[in-house]
Amino acid sequence: MCGIVGAVAERNITAILVEGLKRLEYRGYDSAGLAVFNNAGVLERRRRVGKVSELEQALAGEPLAGRLGIAHTRWATHGAPSERNAHPHFSGSDLAVVHNGIIENHEALRKQLQGLGYVFSSDTDTEVIVHLLDHKLKALGDLTVALKATVKDLHGAYGLAVISAKQPDRLLAARSGSPLVIGLGLGENFLASDQLALRQVTDRFMYLEEGDIAEIRRDSVQIWSVDGQPVVRESVQYHEGAEAADKGEYRHFMLKEIHEQPKVVQRTLEGRLGTDHVLVQAFGPQAAELFAKVQNVQIVACGTSFHAGMVARYWLEELAGIPSQVEVASEFRYRKVVVQPGTLFVSISQSGETADTLAALRNGKAKGPDNGGYLASLAICNVGISSLVRESDLTLLTQAGPEIGVASTKAFTTQLVALMLLTLSLGQVRGTLAKGVEAELVEELRRLPTRLGEALAMDGTVEKIAELFAEKHHALFLGRGAQYPVAMEGALKLKEISYIHAEAYPAGELKHGPLALVDADMPVVTVAPNNELLEKLKSNLQEVRARGGELIVFADGEANMSNGEGTHVVNMPHISDALAPILYTLPLQLLSYYVAVLRGTDVDQPRNLAKSVTVE
Ligand code: G6P
Repeated sequence: MCGIVGAVAERNITAILVEGLKRLEYRGYDSAGLAVFNNAGVLERRRRVGKVSELEQALAGEPLAGRLGIAHTRWATHGAPSERNAHPHFSGSDLAVVHNGIIENHEALRKQLQGLGYVFSSDTDTEVIVHLLDHKLKALGDLTVALKATVKDLHGAYGLAVISAKQPDRLLAARSGSPLVIGLGLGENFLASDQLALRQVTDRFMYLEEGDIAEIRRDSVQIWSVDGQPVVRESVQYHEGAEAADKGEYRHFMLKEIHEQPKVVQRTLEGRLGTDHVLVQAFGPQAAELFAKVQNVQIVACGTSFHAGMVARYWLEELAGIPSQVEVASEFRYRKVVVQPGTLFVSISQSGETADTLAALRNGKAKGPDNGGYLASLAICNVGISSLVRESDLTLLTQAGPEIGVASTKAFTTQLVALMLLTLSLGQVRGTLAKGVEAELVEELRRLPTRLGEALAMDGTVEKIAELFAEKHHALFLGRGAQYPVAMEGALKLKEISYIHAEAYPAGELKHGPLALVDADMPVVTVAPNNELLEKLKSNLQEVRARGGELIVFADGEANMSNGEGTHVVNMPHISDALAPILYTLPLQLLSYYVAVLRGTDVDQPRNLAKSVTVE
């Protein structure tokens, strides 16, 4: 995921831009660059492949000073990571643009612009924007007016920052599908793709909304909404600690990270959704071509990430019609695996450094596709600079931000979102998913952050239920279908942080063994969305009640389940069956959290466990 920083000020802004880029680095990048309107009145650019420190070194050797500038860290989608493909992109010597997102109609625009005599110097989709803007600017004369006209011709997702040597009084921004925030200073203003990049210069922010265009000057900000009308966006004071590596208002990192989920799920979706479809290029420049050849998917991961893979198997088979297997990396890496032709190797990892997952990837890559090996490798990962990402052919970064609590929470739900995007992309490219179904799920995904917020509002109810577990030594988690891995994740959370022995079973397996354990000392937790398995699940629950087991059921409001003797029902917001695993994970995270707090364990750093397991 790329990063954008921009500034217009009275002072030299180069160091501010570089510091901003550094703060965005954890998201992933392969090159960095900036363009500054220098004190001699010339637009000057520096670009480097690799870390922001490379760019910093280049600037140390050849300093650059000015009061207006834009900067970018790039995560390649169109065109290899190279200096010529790094942003900012120029049209002539006076106009510079940086861009997050993907322009879907870039080929058509490129042909059109070449016809008008524009010569392209990169392989990026972004370069069409800057030439198109230049073309419009020549006709219209004013940079802001020209930008408004330009974005009308762009299809896809973008967050844009623009400067011109001809009108150096302003920094322009446009947002559609990729976030942008304006940082408000005194006699100076800033722009970034994430407020994190600007925390060193201001604590007042103004968030652009979808379709907004902004003209940012040193002492004023003017915004137009998608319909061209001037609008005022509220400015908000940012309270220190809400996002930085401290707990802010929360008692533990885990609780803070649980509550961050609506926001980070939103981030994971940004720039990846078109109007009614997933933007397949989000997986990398060769994704569409590779996905068309996929006949089978092999998922490999550890721990919580493995559970995300288990959910994805249901989705891939049911929605995209692709045979899929999922296995824990520590087993997979030592198995003599027979690879089906056309198999995509998918690794899932929060850290991207888990030794077993990395080893599985390396083994998988040992043989090429023509030698009985995998078609290609895809990493779903939260750390852009990790080994897993560097060594995989394709990547989709989750945008969970740094996760500090050892028990994974927001990393899991963002992995699920990424895996849903993968499912929809494969179904789309292979033609196995009806367009209408994709459009519906894209709509549902857009609504997901709100649903997650509603589920988190039940925090207090779950805290009360946790009291039932405080003195218990064992617990059972039940689920059916794609909720079975959710039950597994719920049991893992409880084990990890409260040290209560917990097991998860597919509800239908209950009578094949675990029912023998059920008595009044064994609480049974169940997730029950309203789907075709609900009635069967209800019968399974009767089996528990008949043995005196206490039931805790997280159920769809329409599932008609009610509280009764030994049965505690928590009504969940309604959600489509496909996305239910993401929503139903939240109360289970909260439950384990509050049980652990009651038992007084070390929630954020449970005994014997590590956040990143880089040894076998
Ligand atoms: C450790 C962590 C877990 C995590 C697992 C896999 O066990 O404690 O929370 O799920 O590693 O880590 P990864 O970074 O590959 O997702």
